Amino acid sequence: MKVLVIILSVILSFCLPVKAGNYSLSAHGNASYGVKRDDTNLSGYAQGNCAHCHEQHASINGTEPNPSSAKASKFCLFADNFSGTQAGSYSQSDDFCFYCHTSLESLQVNGITNKDYSATFGGATASVTGIMDTFNQTSYHNLYDVLNSAKSYWPSTFTADSNPCAACHNPHLAKRNKAYPGDPSYTAISKPSAHDQLWGDDPGERLSDFTTYYQAPYYYGSTSTYEPNNQGKPVNGWGSNMPDYDSFCTDCHNSTNTIYSTTLSRNLYKIDWITAGGESGGDKHGKNAATTGLNIKEPFASSDLGITTGFVLSCLDCHEPHGSPNVMLIRREVNGGNLSGNITVFSTIYWSYLCGRCHKDDYKYIHHYDSEAPYPGPPKGCKSCHGSSMKGPINCNYCHFHGGDDSCLNDSSASPYCPTYYTGRRCF
Ligand code: HEC
Ligand code: HEC
Ligand code: HEC
Ligand code: HEC
Ligand code: HEC
Ligand code: HEC
Ligand code: HEC
Ligand code: HEC
Repeated sequence: MKVLVIILSVILSFCLPVKAGNYSLSAHGNASYGVKRDDTNLSGYAQGNCAHCHEQHASINGTEPNPSSAKASKFCLFADNFSGTQAGSYSQSDDFCFYCHTSLESLQVNGITNKDYSATFGGATASVTGIMDTFNQTSYHNLYDVLNSAKSYWPSTFTADSNPCAACHNPHLAKRNKAYPGDPSYTAISKPSAHDQLWGDDPGERLSDFTTYYQAPYYYGSTSTYEPNNQGKPVNGWGSNMPDYDSFCTDCHNSTNTIYSTTLSRNLYKIDWITAGGESGGDKHGKNAATTGLNIKEPFASSDLGITTGFVLSCLDCHEPHGSPNVMLIRREVNGGNLSGNITVFSTIYWSYLCGRCHKDDYKYIHHYDSEAPYPGPPKGCKSCHGSSMKGPINCNYCHFHGGDDSCLNDSSASPYCPTYYTGRRCF
């Protein structure tokens, strides 16, 4: 076996500058659960060996293990990193990683089970059980766009040959967080701006370092245990047992980067998760604090943080990282329970399924009768806001979205147009 490893290193060194680094501590390099392709041509290579991903000239000792391809792939990988396809749904040949990370025909011996974030860290009943499967849902992180953004912001790290998944994961370092959901020293992610190291494993890289005002949401089906590991408050405080996902996602989604989405055919809204300042500041779910009394549910309402406003949320309280059965990567399970249905279109009244997981869900009360309601009364001229059919719910995304306020009321080309009642309040 040792001889084979040495031979492989020599073979690889012809086309790769080999550096093992912390590979042996990674999930892929693990001797008992690491990479192992189910192919007799590879039976001489131990579990965790590089050869289960890298082959010289697409072959091992002159034979071609599954999957066979006529040409050699970049980095001596057994298949091309990425097909370049501009949109899903994806098949295995679209991304090298999908050959193993799928519930269908995985090349890994005995397959791999990867659930979505709602299940692994939220406790929800599993729906999908493979990474390719998580991407092939109603919404997904478009791999073509993700690679493009990584290339444009970090050109010395990512090139046309890179794998889009590598924007968020380093395959030589990623650990098996799913087996230790409350221990970020086992993190699976790397920031695109720091690809050569893990993100979340070191002190200073936890959500509790981004903010001391994080309140973890409930774990699925519980009102006494919390994400990400179905336990009580962590000894080092809320958010100390997970990577700092806010800094991670805002490496790309911040207030300066312009990010194009092929799927949505537009640039994304910029996200300001940092700036305080009330109605003129950034998002209130971020560091900007809510400006009026909240109609909020537990565990926020009587959080032991002892605050009534000023909570800072994690992007992954509401979003999946890969894909979801809802639009916009919205989780199917939030704050201890499933959404009451899927949100399948963007412009809709059904965003209430999401909001209602944390906010009290009487929207007539919230907007018209609460002592700090934005449109108290309710105000006359119902039709100007509610439309000619009267009193029907209004699409929530007219006002509620990242960076949004109710300025649609002030815009005669937008809907609903009702300038008298414009408040200018930051609505997200
Ligand atoms: C935008 C960033 C991003 C991209 C792109 C991305 N991931 Fe992830 N991935 C994450 C995050 C965040 C998690 C969940 C947090 C964790 O496991 O620590 C995750 C988790 C995982 C997991 C562990 C799942 C489990 O069982 O808990 C695997 C495996 C994985 N990703 C593989 C992939 C593959 C393969 C691709 C490309 C097809 C990919 N990822 C693309 C951010 C990303
Ligand atoms: C899970 C599959 C996998 C395993 C196992 C693996 N690699 Fe890689 N390796 C990749 C991918 C994918 C790339 C391309 C990186 C990218 O897309 O940015 C790569 C790239 C490389 C590179 C090019 C430089 C770089 O880091 O991008 C070297 C060198 C390398 N691998 C060496 C090794 C060695 C040595 C081992 C074993 C100790 C190993 N790899 C194990 C998937 C793997
Ligand atoms: C040869 C099969 C194989 C390939 C190809 C492969 N992986 Fe893996 N991956 C594994 C195995 C095996 C594990 C660990 C076993 C498990 O998680 O149950 C793993 C674990 C992971 C984890 C740790 C997840 C967690 O929290 O448990 C991440 C992240 C990951 N892989 C990402 C990738 C990415 C990104 C690629 C492509 C660049 C890739 N893998 C390609 C087999 C593979
Ligand atoms: C309270 C729940 C919640 C949290 C927390 C949250 N989001 Fe969102 N996100 C949404 C909703 C709802 C939408 C759909 C409305 C919209 O497009 O802004 C959305 C949409 C998005 C979009 C698409 C924007 C577009 O152009 O339509 C991106 C990108 C995004 N979120 C990233 C993030 C990041 C990054 C974070 C953390 C810094 C985050 N989200 C935190 C609920 C949330
Ligand atoms: C490497 C850069 C990068 C990182 C890191 C990143 N994203 Fe994205 N994200 C993109 C790009 C590019 C798009 C546009 C393509 C698309 O719509 O899928 C996007 C789109 C989105 C969308 C809209 C998806 C849709 O089309 O419905 C959401 C929501 C989102 N990201 C959330 C997140 C969250 C949450 C994180 C952190 C876990 C994150 N992103 C990390 C690059 C990134
Ligand atoms: C995971 C829980 C969660 C979800 C889901 C959620 N919110 Fe919130 N929301 C909060 C928390 C906590 C605050 C308080 C933030 C603060 O204290 O600064 C807040 C604050 C707000 C505020 C600021 C109110 C004020 O008085 O300034 C608005 C508006 C709001 N949310 C709207 C929404 C809408 C609309 C949705 C659905 C699209 C939604 N939220 C989904 C937890 C959530
Ligand atoms: C300035 C705009 C505006 C005006 C004017 C207005 N509303 Fe509303 N109303 C809203 C918003 C925003 C909501 C919350 C979203 C929703 O549920 O439609 C709402 C919610 C409601 C709801 C709950 C709707 C539902 O099905 O969940 C009722 C009922 C309602 N309004 C009645 C009225 C009546 C009656 C009038 C006139 C006396 C009126 N509203 C005037 C903005 C307005
Ligand atoms: C015309 C603009 C508009 C529309 C449409 C609208 N809202 Fe609101 N909503 C607001 C404003 C303004 C606030 C108050 C923000 C503040 O307090 O600073 C608000 C507050 C909220 C809050 C925060 C409640 C709290 O105090 O904890 C929730 C939740 C909410 N809306 C849900 C919805 C839902 C669900 C819909 C769609 C069914 C909707 N809204 C439609 C303007 C709107």
